[in-house]
Amino acid sequence: MSISIKNPEEIEQMRIAGRLAGEVLDYITPFVKPGVTTGELDRLCHDYMVDAQGCVPAPLNYAPPGHVPYPKSICASVNHQVCHGVPGDRKLKSGDVVNLDITVIKNGWHGDTSRMFYVGEPGIQARRLTEITYECMWKGIAVVRPGTHLGDIGAAIQKHAEQNGYTVVREFCGHGIGRKFHEEPQVLHYGKAGTGPVLQPGMTFTIEPMINAGRRDIRMLGDGWTVVTKDHSLSAQWEHTVLVTEAGYEVLTQSAGAPALPLFLSEKAAA
Ligand code: MF3
Ligand code: CO
Ligand code: CO
Repeated sequence: MSISIKNPEEIEQMRIAGRLAGEVLDYITPFVKPGVTTGELDRLCHDYMVDAQGCVPAPLNYAPPGHVPYPKSICASVNHQVCHGVPGDRKLKSGDVVNLDITVIKNGWHGDTSRMFYVGEPGIQARRLTEITYECMWKGIAVVRPGTHLGDIGAAIQKHAEQNGYTVVREFCGHGIGRKFHEEPQVLHYGKAGTGPVLQPGMTFTIEPMINAGRRDIRMLGDGWTVVTKDHSLSAQWEHTVLVTEAGYEVLTQSAGAPALPLFLSEKAAA
């Protein structure tokens, strides 16, 4: 097995799918308020993807080996939930933080992205974890260019997380993406610089670090999907789908409503 290289036409399809996935997050932003249920957010996103965008929500009935089919169209992971939170009757309340993870399929191509949302006013610990995790994602993205080793991405992320007193979840990783939701390579969010395959133009994969405020250990809930921290500490995650270009990288899931770049990147761009 090997890492697929997308040709220019395929890259154009990935741009379309990526932008649409980002736009679902833009669309849902004003609805993430105290009192809304995660099930209502799922329903709104589902209808937007299907009716407004003409997309298929990739999570719905997704059933990788060893899993029951995923029952909803988005993932909504609240507070100590790490990832794959299954939307339901839980009402969000002020002070909660929630990751919404969107994957669309358009013309057979996937776009996968997630953001953290504050429900009302976040506590300072939740805010700090959310901001550092956002920086972790961008630290990983920033090293992407031809010649980079895959392990350089994980090393950059792990360094930033641990320097700030946080831990990196090991059991889940970023992934190649294209016609398939999850394909090669596995993009670890920890590891050693200089290890792993060398990046080449035309590769597309996600970078989606899950960072915990406490220990890195996780546990799966009885629904077979929702992953939580074992110690119930807060967890945060951000995700983009990225293309390796001749010059470096292109983020395929950027959209108008995405937060500003972290300082270490915007200063570089201005210099
Ligand atoms: N979107 C997740 C990812 O980033 C995968 C969700 S699988 C689901 O890879 F079935 F839970 F939706
Ligand atoms: Co992903
Ligand atoms: Co995702």
